[in-house]
Amino acid sequence: MSDTNRRLFDFIRRSPSPFHVVQTIAQRLTAAGYVPLLETAAWQLRPGGSYFVTRNGSSLIAFRLPEAAWRGFLLTAAHSDSPTFQVKENGELHGPEDYLRLNTDPYGGMLMAPWLDRPLSLAGRVVVRLEEGAVAARLVDLDRDLLVIPSVAIHLNREANKGAALDPRTDLIPLLGQGDARGTLKQLASQAAGVAEADLLSTELFLYLRQPGTVLGAKGEFIAAPRLDDLQCAFGCLEGFLQGREQGCLPLYAVFDNEEVGSATKQGADGTFLSDVLRRVCAAAGRELAPTVAASLMLSADNAHAVHPNHPEYADAGNRPRLNGGVVIKRTASQRYATDGLSAALFAELCRRAGVPVQYLTNRSDLPGGSTLGNIANTHVSLPTVDIGLPQLAMHSVYETAGAADTDYLIRAVAAFYSAAYRCGGDGTYRI
Ligand code: CO
Repeated sequence: MSDTNRRLFDFIRRSPSPFHVVQTIAQRLTAAGYVPLLETAAWQLRPGGSYFVTRNGSSLIAFRLPEAAWRGFLLTAAHSDSPTFQVKENGELHGPEDYLRLNTDPYGGMLMAPWLDRPLSLAGRVVVRLEEGAVAARLVDLDRDLLVIPSVAIHLNREANKGAALDPRTDLIPLLGQGDARGTLKQLASQAAGVAEADLLSTELFLYLRQPGTVLGAKGEFIAAPRLDDLQCAFGCLEGFLQGREQGCLPLYAVFDNEEVGSATKQGADGTFLSDVLRRVCAAAGRELAPTVAASLMLSADNAHAVHPNHPEYADAGNRPRLNGGVVIKRTASQRYATDGLSAALFAELCRRAGVPVQYLTNRSDLPGGSTLGNIANTHVSLPTVDIGLPQLAMHSVYETAGAADTDYLIRAVAAFYSAAYRCGGDGTYRI
């Protein structure tokens, strides 16, 4: 296994919920000397300083303030969330018989069948009472094989292989235990948080798959892991960000929560987090925001569909990414991807010089395809943007497959991006 994929799997294992993704990234940044900033405090930024700030504990933005004069931002954005199920308030379901199950709410558009018959656990955050009048959030990971969503045996449902629909209200309910076990969930959550049950005020707990990442294929061509969409990009952009050596632009790395449910939250890409941070960085550096943003460039990084081995008919005729074929540039005429001809050309030129292969994705003309962070963020902070991603199979399955070589391609492309002497000339000439 390559060292990069080993580190990717470790990143994913330590990041079972968006809160843990941000914690994992914050730990890496802190170890690299980055200073945490609070949104509630005034910012004193020092040229040459490295900083990060979080919102809701589930979105994060990091940046380095150059020592020398700088023109604009070079920024990447990925997302911290993945489709899953959130445990509801009053989440215990008692029965039938002596079964204890958990009542869940689907989060995002998942493929449901792959969640069946797997070892699952719970992670997220809980809010606890510290003392009278004081509450605080605590990250929790129950971190053991805890739950399973059993399928119905083929003998009992002969239609099971004939495209039978799955209903999240009945078919996707996880089994937690057996016996007279009222209060088990609260007991487990409060134990994990290290507080008395009476001080556990609320929970935001999500199901996650326990299975670790692995390498597959006759020559180790493939990797499979939970949450590759979009932790493969969150990880790859972070590594590239830390390797970048800026030349006249300010490098900024963003990870947003809630992409899978439309981004329209305070911490999502449709909120004010990015614009607030850019405005505050400009203010601290004594600069005007609008010309700085106009001189900037963004990579929106979210995984892309590779041609499916059993169903190649879903791919476009001419723009069909291949696993291990390099970084994907996503385009669509509808502008649900923010890429245009200019941003695509700039990114392709950058990758050519860095020796990183690129490939293109367009949706089949009769399929609408998905959307992602780039076009949503652009409605708040408008700048040339290219939507990119790594090719993968089984997107939104609980266990996804990608190319073993592609994470390194992304890291190299992103490191080259952050090291680019990008210049947006007033005469219509762009240098990268
Ligand atoms: Co995604």
